[in-house]
Amino acid sequence: MAQRSEGMSRRDLSEALKESTKEVHVQAENTAFMKNFQRSQISLREFKLYLASLYYIYSALEDESERNKDNPVYAPVYFPNELNRKAALEKDLEYFYGPTWKEEIQCHEATQKYVDRIYHVGQYEPELLVAHAYTRYLGDLSGGQILKKIAQKSLQLPSTGEGLSFFNFPGVTNISKFKQLYRARMNSLPMDPATEERILEEAKKSFLLNIEVFEELERLASQGRISENGHIVKPKTELHTRGINSTHSPKQDDRVQMTHKDMLPSTSFIRWTLVLFFLATTILVGFYAM
Ligand code: HEM
Repeated sequence: MAQRSEGMSRRDLSEALKESTKEVHVQAENTAFMKNFQRSQISLREFKLYLASLYYIYSALEDESERNKDNPVYAPVYFPNELNRKAALEKDLEYFYGPTWKEEIQCHEATQKYVDRIYHVGQYEPELLVAHAYTRYLGDLSGGQILKKIAQKSLQLPSTGEGLSFFNFPGVTNISKFKQLYRARMNSLPMDPATEERILEEAKKSFLLNIEVFEELERLASQGRISENGHIVKPKTELHTRGINSTHSPKQDDRVQMTHKDMLPSTSFIRWTLVLFFLATTILVGFYAM
């Protein structure tokens, strides 16, 4: 197979990827989950669910990166020291869920679908693995850096970086230069036009799988906010939150707000009793005053 760097008239893979995922990128940014995140309206519960999903996704991605590290269709973009996220996610999950974090988290349907696709690609179509690595890692090094600042501020996480390891890349000293290097390595991958086309399709698929995860996270988070009878409930996962002290407490679900109505007794019988009691007291006080 021809090396792409051997002077070809075709556009570089990195440019083609950016171009062909433009539309799905906008779609991903516009999911309710990402929009709320950008508006600093992410709750602690949502953030924890997000990290848990990412843990499964990166475990799969990094298993398959490892499997293909010597495969010429992937080796040039194998950067474990600079990019690997699994260990960072484990640290964050321990911070938020405590030492039993592995038993607390769950791989939900959309995340499982994404994970299955990564495992399939890594084992049976390794030439497409770069599409998944590109979507996640270059995304984390781009928009991910914006999300980090938002999360830190809106969840009031410590400035020492606890709970935000996922967004930190200690192995990358200059993000912009590293992204350039990564693009150059993608451009050096050996491939024919048909394979390039499949990679572009896989990258779009990868974005769509992310979108499905975000939609699922939004659904899961709202299930925790309102119970079947319409009452507001405290989600189980929040009860396990660590890192809470008087100075640095991750903000609790700020979209759960009790109204005065919610605090009134729920049955009309009790409400009427209170009204009658109030009226009787007023009349008695009136008589006494005369
Ligand atoms: C609120 C959500 C997001 C924001 C604000 C955001 C923002 C950005 C920005 C500013 C860039 C840099 C563009 C450039 O360097 O020219 C970028 C690039 C990128 N983003 Fe996002 N992004 C978001 C969500 C996502 C998601 C969910 C994914 C995929 C899962 C993603 C994947 C990427 C990728 C792969 C790139 C690199 C494009 C390239 O240079 O080829 N982004 N994003």
